[in-house]
Amino acid sequence: MIIPSSIVLATAADVKTIAAMSRDTIEQGLPWRYTPARVAKLLNEAEVNLIVARDATELIGFGAMRYADEEAHLHLLAVAPARRRSGVGAALLRWLEESALTAGIGIVSLEARVDNQAARAFYVARGYSEVAFLRGYYLGRADGVRLSKDLFGSAS
Ligand SMILES: CC(C)(COP(=O)(O)OP(=O)(O)OC[C@H]1O[C@@H](n2cnc3c(N)ncnc32)[C@H](O)[C@@H]1OP(=O)(O)O)[C@@H](O)C(=O)NCCC(=O)NCCS
Repeated sequence: MIIPSSIVLATAADVKTIAAMSRDTIEQGLPWRYTPARVAKLLNEAEVNLIVARDATELIGFGAMRYADEEAHLHLLAVAPARRRSGVGAALLRWLEESALTAGIGIVSLEARVDNQAARAFYVARGYSEVAFLRGYYLGRADGVRLSKDLFGSAS
């Protein structure tokens, strides 16, 4: 289990690694949207938290959540393949959810590819419900599913 203190806000030094990991682990088969320029923009947006998980030597995961008045949207979440199933993803998501709660936001939503069984299982295990099927959501090349969680009504 990762220790919470190893999760911190991303810095400009993390941008290239986050963009490359996004391309390789989230956006495979699609045009690269979270390029270094886009990630740098995300980093500087006041309503977005972009966080990273680190071990002693490297970045092992990251997440980005946008906070609106009453809802938050998870844009990015990924863990390095060799570090999965050890609680890193859950720790990143918990950090972002706790920030939403601190801001008085109770609803978090996100989209995942229908064929991303690992992510869908991960979010359902974290209390998310699949609320919509999104045909052709990813540029018409892949279907999506929207998931949502009511943080106020959830124990986790
Ligand atoms: C989804 C992802 C972030 C999960 O990160 P992780 O660090 O492996 O997740 P955790 O170790 O915190 O998993 C917590 C729980 O989620 C569920 N879970 C996670 N990965 C799972 C999988 N591949 N299959 C089934 N359940 C899974 C399990 O219940 C797990 O608990 P357990 O290991 O005790 O069984 C990771 O698989 C990933 O980076 N995937 C590629 C990028 C991606 O798809 N991001 C989401 C885009 S919407």
